Amino acid sequence: MDTAVAGFSKWSKDEKIDWIANTYFSNPQEAVARIKSYWNSDEALQKLHDEFIENTITNFYLPFGIAPNFLINGKNYTVPMAIEESSVVAAASKSAKFWATRGGFKTTILGTQKIGQVHFTFNGEVHKLERFFEQIKPQFFTDTEQLTKNMRARGGGITNIELRNKTALMPGYFQLHATFETKDSMGANFINSCLEQFAQTLVREAESHDVFSKEEKNLRVVMSILSNYVPNCVVRAEVSCAVDELADKNIDNPKAFAEKFVQAVRIAEVEPFRAVTHNKGIMNGIDAVVLATGNDFRAIEAAAHAYASKDGQYASLSHASVEDGIFRFWLEVPLALGTVGGLTSLHPLVKMALQMLEKPSAHELMQVVASVGLAQNFAALRSLTTTGIQEGHMKMHLNNILNQFEANDEERAQVKKHFKNHAVSHSAAVNFIESLRKR
Ligand code: MEV
Repeated sequence: MDTAVAGFSKWSKDEKIDWIANTYFSNPQEAVARIKSYWNSDEALQKLHDEFIENTITNFYLPFGIAPNFLINGKNYTVPMAIEESSVVAAASKSAKFWATRGGFKTTILGTQKIGQVHFTFNGEVHKLERFFEQIKPQFFTDTEQLTKNMRARGGGITNIELRNKTALMPGYFQLHATFETKDSMGANFINSCLEQFAQTLVREAESHDVFSKEEKNLRVVMSILSNYVPNCVVRAEVSCAVDELADKNIDNPKAFAEKFVQAVRIAEVEPFRAVTHNKGIMNGIDAVVLATGNDFRAIEAAAHAYASKDGQYASLSHASVEDGIFRFWLEVPLALGTVGGLTSLHPLVKMALQMLEKPSAHELMQVVASVGLAQNFAALRSLTTTGIQEGHMKMHLNNILNQFEANDEERAQVKKHFKNHAVSHSAAVNFIESLRKR
């Protein structure tokens, strides 16, 4: 089937939908109806969503759920989460409740530095480039004064610019490595605008630098872009309690639980195959809050996994210990988040999410997000080291199967009763519902 298409972006929304429906679906009318059934009846709201990206044909829903009772640094938070995976919100809520009666989450911001780089090539004498850079360094700040004015008024701005010699990695490769404080904004636009100005300043100043030879004047900028790797924009979240206090209805031997839990974390610290899944569990919680608050989850993911590899081998982002009868469990994660700018002032649900969090600063949001990541990790490890993960997962999965079968209340009650004493699997659930219906 030839599905190449020219000028697609210029077509109207209806033309795009008709083309999709006629090209890929045996019943185009039904396809159009399905696509349109996800449109919002409020035209202005729909237009807002249409314009977030190019070629929008409809909306793609994700559940927006709430995890209450997060006690973080003595303050109670109700946390909004956008995620499709069935057990994540339930697990976060369960952990939050567990730790709320054991002192809650304690967090510390370890740094808020953002990074951007101008990558360029220079073929010539390095000491001349170094001297040139020192001479023109103030010019980078002067030329970006207009761009940085508002950010400086908020206490942020460009904190430093360094010349980095990368010729050991690639011939002629140098960088301007700049650091920024972007306060409550994630800062991507701000940083990229500054970097593009640095690049212009660099090229302009090199061209008129008399000490440079003709070739040296011909310094070339390859690209200017922020780095999503932010190893100095990091937050730490921690929970701790006396080992005996870990006891609850599912933990009757807290000492054995703590020991096994610490071993499970240790395995993720030393074994990359386990570390990836372990960290994926942390990101279940982190991404859900990041998404609900209108932040860039791809940037957060990329940074977290790079940070997990910072010591040369991919490892767990969280750690645990038992010392002198105290159980401690903590997480360190880079989080470049914003609570102003971007989607935060555009998407109505993002605005509501931030309102539920009582309009946090970016730093406060970092602390909430890290706590949810830790809570998620606690819930996963607690299940894995006790009942196994499938018990909780299958309970939620069962619910999805019941919905898929549009089960009525009577059928739901029978299914729940049956699976109290029988192992849940997809086929067992389907068979049981079908047998009920045959009866
Ligand atoms: C599932 O989405 C996440 C877990 O696999 C995390 C883990 O294994 O720690 C349960």
